[in-house]
Amino acid sequence: MPAPLVRTIAVSTAEQLQQVFAVRAAVFMSEQDCPYDEEFDGNDYCATHVLALAGVRPAAAIRIRYFSGFAKLERLAVLKPFRGTPVTRAVVEAAVEICRRKSYSQIYGHSQARLIGFWEKLGFRSLGRNRKLVFSDHAYIEIVRQLTPHRNAITMDSDPYLIIRPEGAWDAPGILEQSSKRPVTSPR
Ligand SMILES: CC(C)(COP(=O)(O)OP(=O)(O)OC[C@H]1O[C@@H](n2cnc3c(N)ncnc32)[C@H](O)[C@@H]1OP(=O)(O)O)[C@@H](O)C(=O)NCCC(=O)NCCS
Repeated sequence: MPAPLVRTIAVSTAEQLQQVFAVRAAVFMSEQDCPYDEEFDGNDYCATHVLALAGVRPAAAIRIRYFSGFAKLERLAVLKPFRGTPVTRAVVEAAVEICRRKSYSQIYGHSQARLIGFWEKLGFRSLGRNRKLVFSDHAYIEIVRQLTPHRNAITMDSDPYLIIRPEGAWDAPGILEQSSKRPVTSPR
C-alpha cells in the first residue's frame, strides 16, 4: 500500500489542538512518563502548534513560541508508527518555515541530551554553553539554528490583508478579504 500523504497544518481549530494534545499525551505522558502538569505547562495558549497528518491520522506535533530576536521550538513528538518516516522532518521544517516567514533569523531549542545528533541532522548546533539544564527527568542541551531570510517574509510593508490571514496560511485569500466586499456600515 502506498505511504499516506503527509500534510502539515498550523493549528487553527479546537479539534486540531485536541489532536496535538493527543499526540503529546501518548508520547510524553505515556512513553516518557512525564507528569500531566509538566507536559501541559501553561504555554499552550500563547504558541503556534504545527500538526502533521499522515492521511487522516494525527502523526506528529511541535510547538513554536516567540520572543524578540528568536523563536523557540519545543514539544516535538512523533507517534511511534511514524518515526523514521518523512513525517518527522516535515513537521520540523513546517515550523521552521513559519518562523522564516515571520522574519526570525534564528531558532532556539532545548535538545534532550541523547538527541543532539538528531537535531544536528536538522541544521541545529549546540550553543556550547554547558549551562546545566534539567527538567522533567531529562538533561537538555541548548541548541540554535540560523535561518536564511524568506523571500516573502512578512513585514509592515506586506499587503495588510495578507497580514490578517490565518497564521501559516498566508498564501491563500483569507475570510476577512471576502468580508471586505461588503459595504462599510460601521454597525455599533
Ligand atoms: C525524537 C523524535 C522526534 C525523532 O523522530 P524520528 O522519526 O525517530 O527521527 P528520524 O528517525 O526520522 O531521524 C531523523 C534523522 O536523525 C537521525 N537520528 C535520529 N536520532 C538520532 C540520534 N540520537 N543521534 C544521531 N542521529 C539521529 C536519523 O538517523 C535520521 O537521519 P537521516 O535523515 O540521515 O536518515 C522521536 O523519536 C520522538 O518523538 N521521540 C519522543 C519525543 C521526544 O523525545 N522528543 C524530543 C524532545 S527534544
